[in-house]
Amino acid sequence: MTRKIIIDTDPGQDDAVAILLALASPELEVLGLTCVAGNVPLALTAHNARLVCELAGRPETRVFAGCDRPLQRPLVTAEYVHGKTGLDGITLPAPAMTLQDQHAADFIIETLRAEPAGAVTLCPLGPLTNIATALQRAPDIAPRIAEIVLMGGAYFEVGNVTPTAEFNIYVDPQAAEIVFKSGVPLVVMPLDATHKVLTTRARIEAFRALGTQVGHAVASWTDFFERHDMAKYGSQGAPLHDPCVIAYLIRPDLFEGRHINVEIETGSELTLGMTVADWWRVTDRPANAMFMGGVDAEGFYTLLTDRLGRL
Ligand code: BDR
Ligand code: CA
Repeated sequence: MTRKIIIDTDPGQDDAVAILLALASPELEVLGLTCVAGNVPLALTAHNARLVCELAGRPETRVFAGCDRPLQRPLVTAEYVHGKTGLDGITLPAPAMTLQDQHAADFIIETLRAEPAGAVTLCPLGPLTNIATALQRAPDIAPRIAEIVLMGGAYFEVGNVTPTAEFNIYVDPQAAEIVFKSGVPLVVMPLDATHKVLTTRARIEAFRALGTQVGHAVASWTDFFERHDMAKYGSQGAPLHDPCVIAYLIRPDLFEGRHINVEIETGSELTLGMTVADWWRVTDRPANAMFMGGVDAEGFYTLLTDRLGRL
C-alpha cells in the first residue's frame, strides 16, 4: 500500500534531494508540495520546488505557495548556507509548471478533510508556519493527520543557527509550539540524527556516477552545500538533513530514537527556538514525539542513491 504524503518545504538543496527521493519511491504518493518561506523567501522556494519536480520528470505534481513569513516574527533566511537562489551549485532551467491557486494551508486542510482519517502524513522540511496555520484555521484536521514526520530541532547537537536552536524551529518557534502541542503523533529528525548522514567524496561521486541529470544535479548541490558545513564544523562532509524524513517513511528501521516529551522555547531571547527534549525522561511531562538520535548512514546513502537512480 502506498502512503499518501504532503511535503511542506523551503528548498534548499537538502529539501530538493528529499523531494527527489519521495518522487522516486513507489511506497509514497506525493499529494502535493506546499512551500513556505525559510531558507530563502517564499517566491524562491515556490520556484525551486517546481524546478525540482521538472528535474524529476514529474511536472504534474501540484505545488502550492503558503506563508511568506513566520506567525509572529520577522523572517530569517539562510542564503549563507544555500546561496542566493536557495539551490546554488548548478543552474537549471526555470520551471514551466505553474503554481496552484490555493494557499498551501487551505490545500492541507481540504486534503485532510477529503481523505479518510489517518490516511495522510505531513512531512515538514522547513519552518512550521504552514502546518501551524492549517491547524489554527481548522482544528478539526488534527485527529485526521496520520503522523507529522518533520526535520527540526536538536538535543545533543544543541543548535546550528544559534548556540541553542536549529534553523527550522528557530525561524518560527510559535508555529513549532503549536505543532508540538497539537496532539498529532510526531516523528522528529533533529540534528542529532541528521549530523550522522554526512556526505563524503565517495557518496557524492556515487550520485554523479548515476550518469543522469538528477545524479549530476544532486552531486552539484551537495558539493556546494558541503563547503559551508565543512568550514563550520570541520567535519568530513555536510549533513543531508531533510532526506532523513523521507528515508524514515520508506525504511524506518534505519533510524532509532526515543518517544519523549519535547517542548519549544518561545519566551527567552537567549534560547529562543530550543527544542527542550526530555531525552533522559527526568520530568513527568507526557511524551509527544518520537525523537531520533541514531541512523544507519550507509543504509541511508545506499537507499538514496538507488532511488535517485530510478529518476
Ligand atoms: C534545516 O535548515 C535548512 O537549512 C535545511 O534545509 C534543513 O531543513 C537544517 O537545520
Ligand atoms: Ca529545509
